[in-house]
Amino acid sequence: MGKLMIVDHPLVQHKLSLLRDKNTGSKEFSELVSEIAMLMGYEATRDLPLTEVEIETPVAIAKTKVISGHKLALVPILRAGLGMVNGMMQLVPAAKVGHIGIYRDPNTMVPVEYYCKLPADIVKRDIIVLDPMLATGGSAVSAISLLKEKGAANIKFMCIVAAPEGVEALQTAHPDVQIYCASLDQKLNDHKYIVPGLGDAGDRIFGTK
Ligand code: PRP
Ligand code: URA
Repeated sequence: MGKLMIVDHPLVQHKLSLLRDKNTGSKEFSELVSEIAMLMGYEATRDLPLTEVEIETPVAIAKTKVISGHKLALVPILRAGLGMVNGMMQLVPAAKVGHIGIYRDPNTMVPVEYYCKLPADIVKRDIIVLDPMLATGGSAVSAISLLKEKGAANIKFMCIVAAPEGVEALQTAHPDVQIYCASLDQKLNDHKYIVPGLGDAGDRIFGTK
């Protein structure tokens, strides 16, 4: 079963409170999403393998460590996942970025795919899928299914707010995928919005409502 890791660092929790506030405007909201992504990215990259190298300091030869192994790809789910890319790129500037466009049909809540552009060597990369919201889990499940159809294997999913229903759906469909979130909220409401959540992440980032 893909494990759920809740990043409970005080800085993340403080910024999440500001994010939830309905009076937080788009500029601050998108800055907070980016900052939280960077802080959470620290945890999501904790298991990157290291290899020992020798570096000549001004004083002596040092046996020291650098990141080895597969290169990373970040895959935001459009639109709201875009808000998490810059924060992550500050940690891993060499990462390539793929994009998957999915929206929830407002009537059925079924995810609809409309765009997919991935790095050519995606099969060889470790992948972190980014989306601030894991509600029913439909969008995350279909984005990760699409990545697996293209041959991707080592996939993590990073969101900010998760609903228990979404975590269960994602763990059931993709038990190999480790999930990171800043909060596991109470439930979904009748419109499949996360309670208490933070509203519509895409609309709040891009100011479309
Ligand atoms: C939001 C969010 C997730 C999805 C989560 O996107 O960014 O992608 O809903 O819901 P789910 O877990 O029930 O699938 P939305 O469909 O609003 O698309 P948008 O970002 O393009 O507005
Ligand atoms: N998508 C959002 O942006 N917010 C929710 O609460 C659920 C899905």
